[in-house]
Amino acid sequence: MKAAIIGYGKMGREIERILKERGHDVALIIDQENAGELDAAHLEGVDVALEFTTPATAYDNIRTCLECGVAVVSGTTGWTDRLAELQTLCRERGGALFYASNFCLGVNLMFRLNRQLAALMGRVGDNYQVHIEEVHHTQKKDAPSGTAITLAEGIIENLPGKAGWVNFAPGIEHAANRVEHSEDTPADCIEIRSVREGMVPGIHTVTYESEDDILELRHEIKNRRTLAQGAVVAAEFLCGKQGVYGMDDLLK
Ligand SMILES: NC(=O)c1ccc[n+]([C@@H]2O[C@H](COP(=O)([O-])OP(=O)(O)OC[C@H]3O[C@@H](n4cnc5c(N)ncnc54)[C@H](O)[C@@H]3O)[C@@H](O)[C@H]2O)c1
Repeated sequence: MKAAIIGYGKMGREIERILKERGHDVALIIDQENAGELDAAHLEGVDVALEFTTPATAYDNIRTCLECGVAVVSGTTGWTDRLAELQTLCRERGGALFYASNFCLGVNLMFRLNRQLAALMGRVGDNYQVHIEEVHHTQKKDAPSGTAITLAEGIIENLPGKAGWVNFAPGIEHAANRVEHSEDTPADCIEIRSVREGMVPGIHTVTYESEDDILELRHEIKNRRTLAQGAVVAAEFLCGKQGVYGMDDLLK
């Protein structure tokens, strides 16, 4: 597989290691300084691009790859309100796009358990209050995390009475859909609490709390390698395909 890495930060470097370990060719590396080189000439012969950049740059990067006929795996978070536009473009052009807010196998198993748990909770009435907490390193540029949003969406789809989410993110200025105080969270919204500390790669906890007990679904990533490996496996899966894919397709 001939790959391009777009975004040569923490994830891009880890992805490069895994691509090489698995015998793939890294034909192009694009970062902020040479972003102008992301064009048809430089993408010539590339089978798949792995895009892990920033919320401000992901859309244009992915669009350029699709317009150049190159398959894209992206895991950049914090911009996905525009993902549907690119999925439509991909289908129109017969291209290939794989997006996941989290490429870790364990997190994707948690997504499934989360949907099942929300459906079960819907059957036991409204004894339990639900909230989500996500903890990440201080350099993270978006809040809440894409993974926490996916968890919230899984609950909204399966738990009657929940229609949206808000972010309680003390001290995080760029948080989306933010409430100033936890008490401001409307009853039909799931509160996502965001915490930024140290070098934490990612901890997600879904908590259901009643007057009598607490039930938690918790996942902690121990290192970035699992994320990069998932992205490379997704790229191998995508190679030679057309269409729009996500982790559920890969796990099948
Ligand atoms: N889906 C997942 O499993 C997963 C896992 C980890 C991180 N992420 C997300 O991936 C993104 C990157 O994470 P990271 O930890 O590598 O961040 P990072 O800050 O270490 O790296 C981002 C890189 O993108 C580069 N960049 C900025 N503008 C660019 C442009 N126009 N073209 C190309 N490169 C550009 C930056 O210079 C930087 O090197 C974030 O959105 C993060 O939330 C997703």
